[in-house]
Amino acid sequence: MYIKDNFIQLNTKNTSYIFRITKRGDAEHLYYGKRVPDGDWQPMVEKRSLLLVNSLYPSDDISYGIDDMSFEYSFAHRGDSRACAMLLKDDKGEVFDFVFDSIQKGGLKFDNKACAYGSDEDIAVVFKCTDRKLTLKLWYSVFYDSDVIARTVQLINDGETDISVDNIMSYQLDIDGQDKKLLTFDGAWARERYKTEKSIEYGRYVSGSLSGMSSAECNPFFVVAQINADNTKGDCIGFNLIYSGNHKISLQRDTYEGLRIMQGINDEGFCFNLQKGKTFTTPQGVMTFSCDGYNGMSQNMHDFVLNHIVRYKGELPVMLNTWEAVYFGLNVDKLKTIADKASETGFEMLVVDDGWFGKRDDDTTSLGDWVVDKRKFPRGLKELADYVKSKNIKLGIWFEPEMISIESNLYKNHPDWALINSGVRNITGRGQYILDLTKKQVREYLVSSISKIVEEQKIDYIKWDFNRRFAEIGGGKDSGSFLYNYVEGLYEVLGELTDRYSHLIIEGCASGGGRFDLGMLCFSPFVWTSDNTNPLSRAHIQEGTSYGYPMGTMLCHISASPNHQTARISTFDTRANVAYNGIFGCQMDITKMNEEDLQKLSKVIEEYKSDKDNIRYGKFYRLSDGFNKNDFVWQTMNSSGDSGRITVYHKRFMPVYSSLRIKLTGLKEDAKYRITGAGKLDITAYGSTLMNSGFSLPQNYNGNNMSDDATYLVDDTAIVFNIKKL
Ligand code: GLA
Repeated sequence: MYIKDNFIQLNTKNTSYIFRITKRGDAEHLYYGKRVPDGDWQPMVEKRSLLLVNSLYPSDDISYGIDDMSFEYSFAHRGDSRACAMLLKDDKGEVFDFVFDSIQKGGLKFDNKACAYGSDEDIAVVFKCTDRKLTLKLWYSVFYDSDVIARTVQLINDGETDISVDNIMSYQLDIDGQDKKLLTFDGAWARERYKTEKSIEYGRYVSGSLSGMSSAECNPFFVVAQINADNTKGDCIGFNLIYSGNHKISLQRDTYEGLRIMQGINDEGFCFNLQKGKTFTTPQGVMTFSCDGYNGMSQNMHDFVLNHIVRYKGELPVMLNTWEAVYFGLNVDKLKTIADKASETGFEMLVVDDGWFGKRDDDTTSLGDWVVDKRKFPRGLKELADYVKSKNIKLGIWFEPEMISIESNLYKNHPDWALINSGVRNITGRGQYILDLTKKQVREYLVSSISKIVEEQKIDYIKWDFNRRFAEIGGGKDSGSFLYNYVEGLYEVLGELTDRYSHLIIEGCASGGGRFDLGMLCFSPFVWTSDNTNPLSRAHIQEGTSYGYPMGTMLCHISASPNHQTARISTFDTRANVAYNGIFGCQMDITKMNEEDLQKLSKVIEEYKSDKDNIRYGKFYRLSDGFNKNDFVWQTMNSSGDSGRITVYHKRFMPVYSSLRIKLTGLKEDAKYRITGAGKLDITAYGSTLMNSGFSLPQNYNGNNMSDDATYLVDDTAIVFNIKKL
């Protein structure tokens, strides 16, 4: 960090973020990009002066064109006619004038664990409101090695009256808007985080979620890039938000070619009553710049997530999950048989999914009754836990803690804990209702009932599911802050459990990847990436996810063929090769697998175990744009860079289709590598050659028939090559 006069320069390893305090007490953004020398600011302050006749400026300074300035944060009704980052109200009205007061170094604190840890420097630019006792702090946290800057905003009410906070974005970034494009990661259940690319035109683009969760429809991660950027080249900035509730992404390209980027809690329906003496702290926003294309940006985000978001650093066992294996048809005998096979095959964890509690034979009952179903487990889960333990396997179980079924003892005893409004239209989802986590008793009930199971039944692992979105909300006259308070309540419960049980692994899940976000990753080392386990769908979902999140956070299970979600048939190798690019596991009835596949599974698990730290902490590069091309091509490298894998997912066999050329990345230029794998491919070459010339896969078709060495390049096939430094 370099501060001189009224300039502030934040440096990470490869980037600089620069702004200054103007003579009128605003924070003016000057630069965010590749690292530049400290104090070399002169070219940044030579401003365009494009004053329109109808522009606004302070009455004594016509050169201070408010609409044309790049601000670090903006306020409604202060002459900035773009969308603004903050809207407050009190008895006097909506005009609040914040003016720079001081710089504060260090002292940033959050109320819960949903925040990044281990920053190198925290600095706040402190503003005071001119006619009220209100303090605003714009916090910047530097994560030097990850090239990440995190931002958060604090509003402190030292006045005598309450303030209504109607909008409070986590950050604003005003940059040049010319020749830029936007990448967002949108989708649905079973189709999460599909990359969508759009040019940024004049006007405003607003997306986000209103369902109470970060959502499968619009992930909080997005990218703003130069129009010609791709995986390997071009400037780009990746953004994310450490939050699991309603969020908003807002981009506005204005008359002066500026681009205002903002992200934060979705202000639609939001209104927080900030009582006197209290402080409101926004979720943290996260940004990273890279001039090395999307791969460079993703590397930064991956590093940041692994080192500053995910807390759990213990082992991640290779697991067998019972959901697609037996669904609700589970009982102790069946699971013991599965455990026998699981131990022979090399699994380290058995996760008992939905159906072990209450009277849950289908999805209509029992949510909330977290007591073992004695019909299925007469001697409790502990019997199974002891059994699997004798086979060196740990036990995990599924919970959907935030939910309640009408048909449950919990509902009989506490109907007021459910979010149900009697009325003409009673809205339900999967036949269930959401518990009101803003209520202290509810949070205490969750912590105590989950703790009881963890302790009594000797549980090492919880799959934490969340299968419906919000409709009715509680909160009465405070309904505008209900969804925010709900998320805070959730973080409190998760924080309490992770504090109590440091050995406990929590898997995040929300109908698959509906809450794949940095907030949940503060408590869960990984998230169930999607309920769709078909390799072709997964290739899309995993590639989309990889833009913002590392492989080590994606749970990827091999499942049956035909696939249960798509009915698509795929070979064992294809299913395994796609699932290998994440935290590997399985969900199929292995007692019904044929011997050949079972042996293959055992071999994959063995290989994966020796490789698992490379997958969890290694590097991941996209070598193609699988969303637009016939092939997904992924390169993974171990941390030392001397071995790795290339996975190619070939969508369609196309006769006379020009053969795929693969240019590797991240190798040492003057080291020699050997590439071997599918078919007869065996190449030895220098890193520089493999990165610049690359190598080709054989042509599929030679004019009369499939060429010998390309018979593997058929429809919907994932193949693998190994990279070894010599
Ligand atoms: C959700 C999850 C699945 C499974 C089921 C159980 O759909 O995403 O993985 O746990 O619930 O009901």
